Amino acid sequence: MRTIAFINQKGGVGKTTSAVNIAAGLARDGRRVLLVDLDPQAHATQHVGVELAPGQRSIYDVLLGDAPLAGILRPVCENLTLAPSHIDLVAAEIELYGRPGRERILCAALQPHREQFDLALIDCGPSLGLLTLNALAAADEVVIPLQAHFLALQGLGRLLETVARVRESINPSLRVGGVLLCMYEPGTRLAHEVADDIRRFLEAAQPGAPWYGAGIFATPVRRNIKLAECPSFGKSIFDYAPRSRGVADYTAVAREIAPLPTPAPLAEACADEAAVMPGNGAGHDPAAAPIPADAAAPSESGVKLAGWPGGVDCSSTAAGRHGQAHAAGRHGHAQLSRDPLARTPSVEPGPSPCEAGDQPPGDPESMGLPAAPDSAASAS
Ligand SMILES: Nc1ncnc2c1ncn2[C@@H]1O[C@H](COP(=O)(O)OP(=O)(O)OP(=O)(O)O)[C@@H](O)[C@H]1O
Ligand SMILES: [Mg+2]
Repeated sequence: MRTIAFINQKGGVGKTTSAVNIAAGLARDGRRVLLVDLDPQAHATQHVGVELAPGQRSIYDVLLGDAPLAGILRPVCENLTLAPSHIDLVAAEIELYGRPGRERILCAALQPHREQFDLALIDCGPSLGLLTLNALAAADEVVIPLQAHFLALQGLGRLLETVARVRESINPSLRVGGVLLCMYEPGTRLAHEVADDIRRFLEAAQPGAPWYGAGIFATPVRRNIKLAECPSFGKSIFDYAPRSRGVADYTAVAREIAPLPTPAPLAEACADEAAVMPGNGAGHDPAAAPIPADAAAPSESGVKLAGWPGGVDCSSTAAGRHGQAHAAGRHGHAQLSRDPLARTPSVEPGPSPCEAGDQPPGDPESMGLPAAPDSAASAS
């Protein structure tokens, strides 16, 4: 089982929309997918139409009540299974505080299911607290959904720094799979500039950094009103608007993550042209996306990444010019590139950090990571 965490402490950037619809796309391609809702808001749970009756168990009971994951799993559709969340989970950050091994509980809970599923996708809330730390400890890869605007880079440094520390202390095989541009508006210069900034920053990564080799997914997910509508119907975009741009984009992203053995045509798309939100570059064709498809090459994880020549100087980038904190984070590239670990391929993920008995304790506080609720990091 390959485990992918969708993480960005910034709120409303497309984490849930991406986790749910990529999970649905992968399931339609025949992959056995587990969708783990690790957000107390339970948006992914609602998005796939699951509503827990009072007393029904959720991921809260797995993290805090020692319930087996098998006891909470719910089939959503063929090949797609949900580990649901509940608002109770909001207390988890406090309740987990002081528990030994509190950052590895999810990882351990997933172990018995490694053969049952091909992929596990974890939808995280807008925080870098203990819940997200559990996702990072359990994951092979991190996908970072973000919106291409000037504020997008602001939290990226902190997020990457957290990934680097978790890799050093808890999960040596953790790496960044890629940045996924969401609610993309290809008609705007801003979107191109921000994408270029991110691309240059990622290209400047030193070997050994968890994001070395990562890039922007070749397919940006365009703004599409159908994607905003479908959660309220409890459906993925594939069931709600099968001929929408959302289906085209998320089908392509799912296939970047897990390519089909034999290429299949993308879903018929764009029938809802008129329903596209204003100002999103209506009429844009995915093939003409500004992410240079010709530079795309499969990464070790199967993620097709756009190529990026040249180095980066964020002070001259769009974000830098506008005075935003650039993606090097508080301590800059030098600190992040200290990571002595070589890049770890994740096509065949190695033993999980939960299986290895000789792992360091990975105490969040000793890593400088939040052990208690980190509401300050939440930007929702
Ligand atoms: N491509 C898109 N086009 C239009 N609307 C979108 C798109 N992607 C997401 N949305 C909408 O934007 C809002 C935020 O998306 P989403 O809930 O996926 O973000 P999130 O990062 O999971 O938020 P949170 O941090 O609160 O968990 C939702 O209302 C969603 O329906
Ligand atoms: Mg969400």
